[in-house]
Amino acid sequence: MMRLTPDQSSHVRRTPLVDFTFDGTGVSGHDGESLAVALMRAGHLHLRDAPEDGGARGLFCCMGLCQECVVRIDGMVVESCRSTVAQGLAVTSLRRQS
Ligand code: FES
Repeated sequence: MMRLTPDQSSHVRRTPLVDFTFDGTGVSGHDGESLAVALMRAGHLHLRDAPEDGGARGLFCCMGLCQECVVRIDGMVVESCRSTVAQGLAVTSLRRQS
C-alpha cells in the first residue's frame, strides 16, 4: 500500500518507559504521557463501574469533562485522561469487583 504522506514515525522522540501498576498488574508507559493512553495501550479499557447499574465505563471525552475515566491514585479519585504516568505509580480502578 502506498502512503500519501511521508512516514515520520522514526522521528518521534519518546520519553523513557517507566513501570506502574493498575489493580496490582504491572503496566509500562512513557514517562509523562497520559495515564489513560498508557492504560488503553495495555488493554485496560474498563476503568470504573457506573454507580447506577454497574456498567463498564472508560475513556470517553479524553479532555476532563465526562469523568468516565476516573481511577484512584494515592487515595484520590482523578481523571486518568488528565493524569500522567510516572515510575511506581499505583493506580486502582473504581470497579465494584476488581
Ligand atoms: S475521558 Fe472524559 S474525563 Fe477523562
